Amino acid sequence: MSPVTLGRLSSSLFIIFILVFHFSFPCHGDVGTAAHYSPPYIPSGCYGGDATQFPSSNLFAAAGDGIWDNGAACGREYIVRCISAEEPRTCIPDQSIQIKIVDYVASAVSLPSINGTTMVLSDMAFGTIANASATFINIEFQQL
Ligand SMILES: *[C@@H]1O[C@H](CO)[C@@H](O)[C@H](O)[C@H]1NC(C)=O
Ligand SMILES: *[C@@H]1O[C@H](CO)[C@@H](O)[C@H](O)[C@H]1NC(C)=O
Repeated sequence: MSPVTLGRLSSSLFIIFILVFHFSFPCHGDVGTAAHYSPPYIPSGCYGGDATQFPSSNLFAAAGDGIWDNGAACGREYIVRCISAEEPRTCIPDQSIQIKIVDYVASAVSLPSINGTTMVLSDMAFGTIANASATFINIEFQQL
């Protein structure tokens, strides 16, 4: 193959890559990881333990260090989608959830299923987008 053909081929591949990427991630969120945690849910990191701040949907999360933002994360809402996991078919296809940050992982009363993730979802939130028995998932998330 001549260098010119090779150049054309790689730029076509590049365009295809961009298109695939664009359509796989239509809302251009960030990519991260999510664990889950179980009751008791006490929002000590955000609302001084005042559980009336929980969304009635029970779809909430504790912020990991990456998004905690020195406490500014409290009350922020995100759209979260499961994109992959170690075990195939862990993600529930075409499911996304809207969650509210109600706590800080490092000070949460309940321990997460694994340490070091971007956020830790309530069991109900996690189970809505993935197989609840997974330890963690890769997510796409976008702040509202
Ligand atoms: C996460 O870290 C905490 C505190 O260091 C530790 O007690 C806990 O066992 C860790 N959890 C996991 C799943 O490794
Ligand atoms: C969830 O994962 C567990 C453990 O990998 C598996 O046994 C179970 O069949 C899965 N459930 C669904 C609904 O895929």
